[in-house]
Amino acid sequence: MTKATGHDLTIVDHPLIRHKLTLMRQKDTPSAQFRQLLREISLLLAYEVTRDLPLQDIEIETPLEKSVQKQLSGKKPCFVSIMRAGDGLLQGLLDLVPSARVGHVGLYRDHETLKPVQYYFKMPHSLDERHVLIVDPMLATGNSAAAAVSLVKEAGADKIRFLCLVAAPKGVETLRAAHPDVPIFSAALDDGLNEHGYITPGLGDVGDRLFGTK
Ligand code: URA
Repeated sequence: MTKATGHDLTIVDHPLIRHKLTLMRQKDTPSAQFRQLLREISLLLAYEVTRDLPLQDIEIETPLEKSVQKQLSGKKPCFVSIMRAGDGLLQGLLDLVPSARVGHVGLYRDHETLKPVQYYFKMPHSLDERHVLIVDPMLATGNSAAAAVSLVKEAGADKIRFLCLVAAPKGVETLRAAHPDVPIFSAALDDGLNEHGYITPGLGDVGDRLFGTK
């Protein structure tokens, strides 16, 4: 079941997602299980976020007869990962749409200005003709997400969606204010942020938990 909270924020509410997210939130869940759960949830999220991708007719031949069926139309969709935690969401998406193109955005936070600074940017060609899905598990302050969307727009994209696992109200507000044309999809909307910018109750540092770093 999908809970629409407004035209620009969709909470993908499904018992399997809730159950798996609860396992991910628990601090003792080991990295291997955490990674696998994120992959499984991203499959379920991908199903919802790709629901209205455009289709076109194609004539095929079954073993019995010729038939007109549907296939995805236009250029392959593009998934854009905000490194490094975004890579954890990519695998499930690629399981579902193996032909998708993949872009990467690397951003770090400048300690003085607290603004995101770009250190890596690589996109497939013809972004203007593709449906683009930008992914980052945690929409916390929203600053990185808003910066990533700006960069992807500058590279030519104009059909953009944003997918996360957990959103904080502040992140939704920041992204919505900067890019009101970008719909946001999330598995959960949590309470808020702590003084270090972590989502509460959240699930901690996703990059560290995914890759076993600290
Ligand atoms: N990034 C994370 O990994 N976790 C948060 O809670 C916020 C940002």
